[in-house]
Amino acid sequence: MAEQGFTPPTSEWYHPSADMVEGANVPDYEAVYNLALQDPEAFWANRAETLEWYKRWDRVLDDSRKPFYKWFVGGKTNMALNALDRHVTTWRRNKLAIIWEGEDGEKVTLSYWRLWQEVNKFANVLRGMGVAKGDRVTIYMGRVPEIAIAMLACAKIGAPHSVVYGGFSEQALASRIEDAQSKVLIACDGAWLRGKIVPLKDMVDEAVQRSPVVETVIVVKRTGHDIHMEPGRDFWYHDLMALPIAKTEAETEVMDAEDPLFILYTSGTTGKPKGVLHTHGGYQVHPPPTLAWVFDLKEEDRWWCAADPGWITGHSYIVYAPLILGATSIIYEGAPTYPNPDRWWRIVADYGVTILYTAPTAIRGLMRFGEAWPNRHDLSSLRLLGSVGEPINPEAWRWYHRVIGKEACPIIDTWWQTETGGFMITPLPSVGLKPGSATRPFPGIQVDIVDDDGNPVATNEDGNLVIKSPWPSMIRTVYGDDDRFISQYWEKYKNQGWYLAGDTARRDEDGYLWVIGRNDDVLKVSGYRLGTAEVESGLVSHSAVAESAVIGIPDELRGNAIHAYCILVAGLEGSDALEAELKAHVRHEVGPIAVPAQIEFVENLPKTRSGKIMRRVLKAQALGQPLGDLSTLED
Ligand code: PRX
Repeated sequence: MAEQGFTPPTSEWYHPSADMVEGANVPDYEAVYNLALQDPEAFWANRAETLEWYKRWDRVLDDSRKPFYKWFVGGKTNMALNALDRHVTTWRRNKLAIIWEGEDGEKVTLSYWRLWQEVNKFANVLRGMGVAKGDRVTIYMGRVPEIAIAMLACAKIGAPHSVVYGGFSEQALASRIEDAQSKVLIACDGAWLRGKIVPLKDMVDEAVQRSPVVETVIVVKRTGHDIHMEPGRDFWYHDLMALPIAKTEAETEVMDAEDPLFILYTSGTTGKPKGVLHTHGGYQVHPPPTLAWVFDLKEEDRWWCAADPGWITGHSYIVYAPLILGATSIIYEGAPTYPNPDRWWRIVADYGVTILYTAPTAIRGLMRFGEAWPNRHDLSSLRLLGSVGEPINPEAWRWYHRVIGKEACPIIDTWWQTETGGFMITPLPSVGLKPGSATRPFPGIQVDIVDDDGNPVATNEDGNLVIKSPWPSMIRTVYGDDDRFISQYWEKYKNQGWYLAGDTARRDEDGYLWVIGRNDDVLKVSGYRLGTAEVESGLVSHSAVAESAVIGIPDELRGNAIHAYCILVAGLEGSDALEAELKAHVRHEVGPIAVPAQIEFVENLPKTRSGKIMRRVLKAQALGQPLGDLSTLED
């Protein structure tokens, strides 16, 4: 069952201006799409030609061990070679790579030259501490420039990074450290959010206790509050960066195209998060052209992807794609509403942001405060606006278009996933828009909407979204779990060899694609991806809870709100106090993003005869909808 049901306004069109189309990096979507379709390998090889390689690939694609596809086989490269090294030998060394603003108003700018030096210094520090090619490094930080430095330094020395979003708490962090077996953790003392300190280092201390594989913790000082530093284990970043080993030049490790660049944990259908693995070669080829073509990125643009670097959107579109393209990327640390609901609009005006990319939940959150806040600021620098993470509801789309974009900026709705690495379904500036539709596949990408047997569904009918051919930045495996990789994504359509996205979608009479929502046990809450099982295991780890089930209920602001059902251990009674205690427990164990909006205490849960909880029954019941087929229900 899809999470959100809405009737798409399939007849509402917004056509791009002639200026926008003529001046675009790629002015004709149809022509490029059709060309790529004829020879996808040649299409991707052409993209790869724009990058530097220590050694060119022998073969573009090796599909001899499906679904373990290999791209740019035999090629030697490094993400850092393309994101940094190659820029500092050109005029771009003096261009701003990163503009950062702290929530407290502090500002930092890093030119490509400065960023390259800082990355080199930190690469030398990591090497000095014994981190070698292939070692996994976990990064758990707020939105500070050092997170980009840390990621790039890891890339440079060939140590795959695993960034854990700072909104996760101890258990989530501990299980990700454990799965990746990271000996080194890079963290912050704290992060600023809404004027308060998020005590990241306290959570690190607890997580490291639960997952003692960590031998070294490097701590960036951001908030400066009192924290515990464990002698022999914890080191200040600024102390290490002042050591003689922290030289401003560092060798870039020569990596095989298929060597891992990073692991990024994301939620799946079981409690254990999946480590999505991306590689140096393929991942550097796909996101840059999507950014350059879809958002029409030009040398002089000021690009602001307002996501968190701890999610795939931040990996691909704050750090890697913009830097590969030599763009200026903006990072803002804090809350959009701090100290007032016009913080974002002030940033747009102050820095002359030309392209803003955010999530529907953020737009809805800012829309609540009314038009007066954005109208106080000069937003005329904006030329394109983007959306990602969940379907954008037409009201939010129209507000974004009218109030922020002054009806002159296309709204670029991009559909993709942690697993896809880059945009998959998205308009180019020449494509007409319909609010709520991500429109058409990116060139080189083949998608379809099919029924459970793989037959294409009729126009405007719901079906499973599948990707029919491989692409360079596709997930390579679930880290350490090839079986899960196969069963999750490839099992369902194994005869056809298609990738199962896990989303329900439909195609309208104009061939436009509408992604409705997840059709598995994954929730999208404020654009964040969470497994029902993660929240459930957070709840049952409390001594009062015997069993629990979690569903998402459509919510105006958050897209979905978490509703939890708990069976208490025998003899206990539910109460408001216990509900509050359980919420606090989930916050502590999993993180603030996982806290249920509501907890209901129940005597039993609907289950199949094999014992699987039927969440769709709970959901239908909560929404007052028909319960559907109950033939598998236990009782
Ligand atoms: O359900 C789709 C939704 O987000 C899921 C992927 O989540 P994640 O891996 O966290 O990546 C989010 C950022 C790329 C998808 O399976 N989703 C993402 N973008 C859209 C979307 N749903 C509808 N429209 C979108 N533009």
